Order: sequence, then structure tokens, then C-alpha cells
Amino acid sequence: MWKVVWAALLLLATVCAQRGYAKETKGAPKVGHVSVVIVGGTGDLAKKYLWQGFFQLYANQVSSGYSFSFYGGGLLPKDKATPILFEALKGVVCPRELSVERCALVKEQFLKLAEYWQLKTLEDYQALGKHLTEQLKQEGIVEAGRLFYLSVPAFAYADIAEKINNSCRPTNGAWLRVVLEKPFGHDFSSAQLLSTQLGTSLKDEEMYRIDHYLGKQVVSKILPFRRENSKHLDPIWNKHHIERVEIVLKETLDARGRIPFYDQYGVIRDVIQNHLTEVMTLLTMGLPANLSDVKEVLRNKLKIFSALQHLDRNCATIGQYQTYNLEVQEELNKTKEYYSLTPTFAGIMVHVDIAQYEKMPIILTSGKMLDERLGYARILFKNDIFCVQSHDSVHCKPKQIVFYFGHGTLQYPAILVSKNLFKPDLMDTEWKEVTEHKDVSVLGMPISDYYVLTPTVQREAYTELILHIFQGRKDSFISTENLLASWGFWTPLLHGLAKTSPRLYPGGADNGNLLDFRLLGREVTFANEAVVMITQDHMGGSGAESFQVMQGKYRSADMVSAWPEELIVRLAADLQAAAENAVREGGRFHLALSGGSSPLALFQRLARHHYSFPWRDTHVWMVDERCVPLTELDSNFRTLHDQLLQHVKMPYFNIHPMPVQMNQRLCVEEDSGALLYERDITQLVNASSFHFVLLGVGYDGHTASLFPGSKLDTHGDSLVALTESPAKPHQRMSLTLKAINQAQKVGVLVMGKSKHELVTQLSRVKDNPKKWPVTGIRPTSGRLVWYIDYDALLG
Ligand code: BG6
Repeated sequence: MWKVVWAALLLLATVCAQRGYAKETKGAPKVGHVSVVIVGGTGDLAKKYLWQGFFQLYANQVSSGYSFSFYGGGLLPKDKATPILFEALKGVVCPRELSVERCALVKEQFLKLAEYWQLKTLEDYQALGKHLTEQLKQEGIVEAGRLFYLSVPAFAYADIAEKINNSCRPTNGAWLRVVLEKPFGHDFSSAQLLSTQLGTSLKDEEMYRIDHYLGKQVVSKILPFRRENSKHLDPIWNKHHIERVEIVLKETLDARGRIPFYDQYGVIRDVIQNHLTEVMTLLTMGLPANLSDVKEVLRNKLKIFSALQHLDRNCATIGQYQTYNLEVQEELNKTKEYYSLTPTFAGIMVHVDIAQYEKMPIILTSGKMLDERLGYARILFKNDIFCVQSHDSVHCKPKQIVFYFGHGTLQYPAILVSKNLFKPDLMDTEWKEVTEHKDVSVLGMPISDYYVLTPTVQREAYTELILHIFQGRKDSFISTENLLASWGFWTPLLHGLAKTSPRLYPGGADNGNLLDFRLLGREVTFANEAVVMITQDHMGGSGAESFQVMQGKYRSADMVSAWPEELIVRLAADLQAAAENAVREGGRFHLALSGGSSPLALFQRLARHHYSFPWRDTHVWMVDERCVPLTELDSNFRTLHDQLLQHVKMPYFNIHPMPVQMNQRLCVEEDSGALLYERDITQLVNASSFHFVLLGVGYDGHTASLFPGSKLDTHGDSLVALTESPAKPHQRMSLTLKAINQAQKVGVLVMGKSKHELVTQLSRVKDNPKKWPVTGIRPTSGRLVWYIDYDALLG
């Protein structure tokens, strides 16, 4: 068969106008035969993009001396799958540069070169391997390489790679390239495991991990653009000139039909960890001296990854479109009680901790079911000109560079530079300047206010990347180190958000400004409060009610309940009111604060929103402490310091850490640290009665560092005691029940779905401080208020 094909190819040799990009790069395969196998060749991706990409590769390479054969592989038997495959193949369209007649000829050849091959068992792969080798022998053709494109679920990768390694490797120095589609793991450890598994069958240089964003024409030109325009950019590509960077992927589609995949991943894993992160590294990395030096590019990218500031859940807001949960219930066969926490929207702020970008916000955001389909990266520069009049003049307008990936109002990929910045140079002859515009606005500015560069010919990302694979260009693919660095960065945030309820949004234009978010220091919060609809399903009440903060009773004490954000807002406001009141009455506010994760959001809120809090007259005490040096990360004081104290203006002698370290040792009875703390309290706090004690409650019912089974009765009249925790570090120092119950107000903060069971249980049990220490909180003359978020209350 191939002889015939060769003849046809020779005929075609003059047919295909070769564009610059068809030329071979260094390290490209020697001319010869290339076998392409798409495993999953009848699947959606193959139908939509891959066959088209390979057809274009074929059309562009037939005249360069290569010959090809194409195999669509899959689990179905040949007779069933062949018609499906050919249906997909018939749909491919010709590159614009081919005339209609020539296209028909090339397409006919392409179809003749393709066949279906069942690839299920090791024997199937062995048969394919044998077939490939025999065909080459029969035709006497030199082999250039074998390209396997794995367009299958990731769980099948390791097994298929092993089969390819065992039975389909080429001989005689021809190359093997195995292309893998994301997801490459689910978090750092699963990505590491998958890499190790693949590493047993394939060499690193044989693996091509696709991130199709790297094939988008605009994305692939970020570095060349930066280099070509470095004389303008170098002076301004830094924190002094850049206001912020925004990397955005907005989609109108939902996740319907993909829920089994999507619900396990969500928006951060689906597009932010990979596509948007890659764009971020291209924008921030140091410019390599040689843009096609894969190692140098990787080195520079890794430097950025290692300088990214750790993300915690306050650096992100998440949402979920309203009908998503129904889709999950349907597609995953779940009951009506099932609630998925998978986010379909996220807004995240990232900082790169190097002098060039310190404190410069980088926003990464993406969502399904938004108002428009649009992807871009915008560098918004500071405008240091104050316009007194003529606000329409060009120097009064925003200064920005927009890498516009496509869709949106413009409908084509482009790099836009606002005219008040500079006139950009073209990167190469494949790009041109657009001078005639439709009357559109891009990100709030009329297109005529920008210089606009666009590719001369638009090409699909997959088509580009398939060409790069053929050329052996690894710079557009994700190396193992890059992948692990990215997962290493994202995994803590993903774990931190795992139990967070996303804000529900209706979808499309109805979202209004529900998803807008605000940047405050390192924190990201929704800009507008959500009006929450609590329906019968949630509350067992009648009809739909809308409310934000609910008052009620819990364990016969007062309870305030709301969604997490609103609850923290309320608690912070209550604290400030108590502080102002105490200062007004007695000139001092004595506040005792707990450790644990629940109060973190409160500390951050106080630090960033309560500028009128009377910090100068506030004394901060610790409810409890772990017996570790105060500088250790797991010290409660260290957390309080990092999250709150260092951000507020407060005399340092008003701060009272527990003396857990004395005489260079930790919590030793004879050092009398507990007594010392008690003495300070007695001397400074009127009647040893704190104005406000903030507590949390652990899964086992512990509060402060008073654990079930603690010998509470041995504390007698002490205010401070050394206690034991079942968890490490075991030794603790804690206020006693007596000290807490003397307070004027005690707040118990309980947050998160994982506390729901505990909240239910505690609502039923009688006071039994030995078993449930928190039930021993009964202020003698003060007031107890439970602050419980809806996640903990409703589950
Ligand atoms: C894919 C995601 O990687 O990228 C999809 O899995 C998403 O959920 C798509 O829709 C977006 O790509 P593009 O090219 O349409 O912006």
C-alpha cells in the first residue's frame, strides 16, 4: 500500500505550499516513515481536534520526504469502530493554502493511510508492533519514528505505556514519542506516583505532556513578544509599574456530560493548575537568552515556582453554578441529599516573592456558566498621570497589554498594547499589525486605543502542538519537574479548600456582580454579600426564606449562625463592640484568644478591616498554648502573631504570650510558668475576669487545651494549668474552666462541615465536662454565645 502512497506523495511534492513553520528544527527526525497511533482514536477529543491536527500535519509534510500511516486505536472491535473512525476522518478540513482540488486529493490519500486497530490487550499491542515492523520491511522503508497519542482517561496511562514499551518500540534508532493528555494526577502525590509509573516504561524525552494552552498562538508568543519588545518592557516589567496581572478564562458552557471527570477535579485542577499557571510563568519568568533552549526555559520557570508565595484558603474565592449539583446527582446517581463541594468558579490571588514582583497581585480566575467565552492575560500598568481635564485623551486611559487568547468581543487571537504605552514590534513574519478595526471595545477600551497584533493565519492549538511533537520540539510541553512544581504549589490550597462551600451562582448574565471579588492584602473575598436562599431541603422549614445571619439558641445559650464569611464578619463586629464598650467603661479591653484553625479567618478580618479597633487599649492573652518555642509554626502565639498582631498597632507590653519556655526548657512544672501567667492575669485583669474569651471546640469536644479525660477537678482554683493533649505536641498550657467561666463574655466559634456531627452530638448531650470539656463552659455571671456557621450547623 505504501508504495502507492509514496508515488502519490511525490506527485504532491509541489502541491503543498510550505509555510515557514514546516521547516525542520534541530533534532528533528531523519526523513522516513512515521506511524501515528491515536489510542482513543474514536473519542471526542480525537474527533474534534486530533484527526484535524494530524491531517494538517500530513498535508504540510507530504512534500518533505516523510511518509505516514495512521491508526485509530480503541477498545471496540474493528468492525464496530471502523465506521465511527471514518466518520471522524471525513470531517477534517483542509488548510487554507490548499486549493479545493488538491485538498480533495490529499484528503483521499489521508483516508487511505488510516485504519482502525483494536487496542485492548497486550496481544493487541504486540500484533500492532509486529504489523508496524513487517510493513516497513515489506516496503523497504526507513522508519523515522512512532507517535502514540494517548487520548484516554489518565488511569489507563501507566498500563498502556507499559504495553507500548513491551511491544511497540521502534528499532534502528527511530524515535518513540508518547503524547499524554491531562489530567496528570490530582494533586502532588498522585502526580508524582503517575510520573514514577510512567518512568518505568518511558524515558522523559519520549513523553510529551500536552497543555493545549501552550499551543495557542498568543500564548506561544508571550516570550517572543517580551524579547522583541524588551527595550520598552524591561524598564516597566516590575512591581513599580505594574498594578496587577490578570489571567482569565471565562466559559459559558457547563460541565454536563463530563461530571464523572469534572466532579473529581473542579475548576482549579481542570484549568488553573495547568493552563493559567503556564501563562503566569511565561509572563513572570526571567527571559531566557535562548527561547528554544528547553532547559533554560524550564530553569527559569522553576525559579518562579519556587518563589511563589504559599497560598491558603483566604487567597481564593470559589463558586458553583446552581444547577451543577443536580447534574452531579443525575450523572453520578446520587441521592437528593448529596451535595458536591466541587468549585466551578475560582478567583485566586498569587504573589511572586522576588524583588521584581513583590506584593504585585496576580489574579487567576476561571469559571463555567459565566456570561461570555473569553480568555486573556492582561498586564495593567499604573498610570501616574493625573488628568485635570480632557479625560478622553490617550494618556488618561488605562495602560495595558492584553494577550487575548480568542473569542470574546474580538473573536480572534491578538496581542494588544494600549497606545499610551509603546508601539510594539512584530515577533516574526507570521504576525501582522491590524489597522482596520470593527467598532469593538476590549476590556473597557475601544480597540482603536490599542496597537493590535494578530497571526496572519489562525491555527488550532492542537494542530500547532502536533506539529511540534512531530518536530521533536519539547519547549511546548510539560516536563515532569514543571508538573510537580505546579502541583506542589497548588496542592496545599486544594486541600485547604476541600471542605469549603462554594458560593452558588445562577449562571450567565444573571450572575450580575455576585462573583466579583475584592483583593485586600493577600486576601480575596467576594465583593458583595450573597443573599442566601435557604430552602426546605436545607432547613426542613417551610417555603424559601432568604437570610444571612440567624439568631437562636444552642445548648440553652445564645447562638449566632450564618454562612462562614458572614459569621466572621459578625463575630469581628461583636468583638469590636465589646472592646469599645470595655475601653469606654474602664480604659482597657482584655481579650483571650484560642489557637486552632477556626479563628484564623477572624484574625485576618480583624487585621484587614477593623482599623478603628481600640488596639492601643487592648490586652491580648492566650487561652492556651502548645509547649513548643513561640517561634515554631505550630505555636498558637506564632499563628496569632503572623495573622493578627504583626498587622495591628498595639503596644508590645499589652501582648501576653504564655510562658511555655523557661530556663531553656518547655513546660516544666518547677519552672512555674502557669503560676506566672496566673499572676499576670490577677495583677492586670480586673477581678481576673476577661472581657472576652474566644474558644473553639475540637472533634472530641475539647476546648482551650482541656481534653476529655483531663483531670479538670485537680485544677481547683487555679486560673492556668499544664495539661495533656492526646495529639502532638502532648504538653499544653491552658486557661482553666474557672478562668474561662469568670469572663464577661465567652464566644465559642465552630466552623466547617466536618464539625457538623459534633454540633449535632453536642446539641443532645448533658453537661459532662469530663467527657465533653466544652460543656463545662457555663459563665458564672457572663454571657456565652455560640458562633456556628451553616456548614457546621446544617452539614
Ligand atoms: C480544558 C478543560 O483543558 O480546557 C475544559 O478540561 C475547558 O474544561 C477547556 O473548557 C478550555 O479550553 P479553551 O481552549 O476552550 O479555552
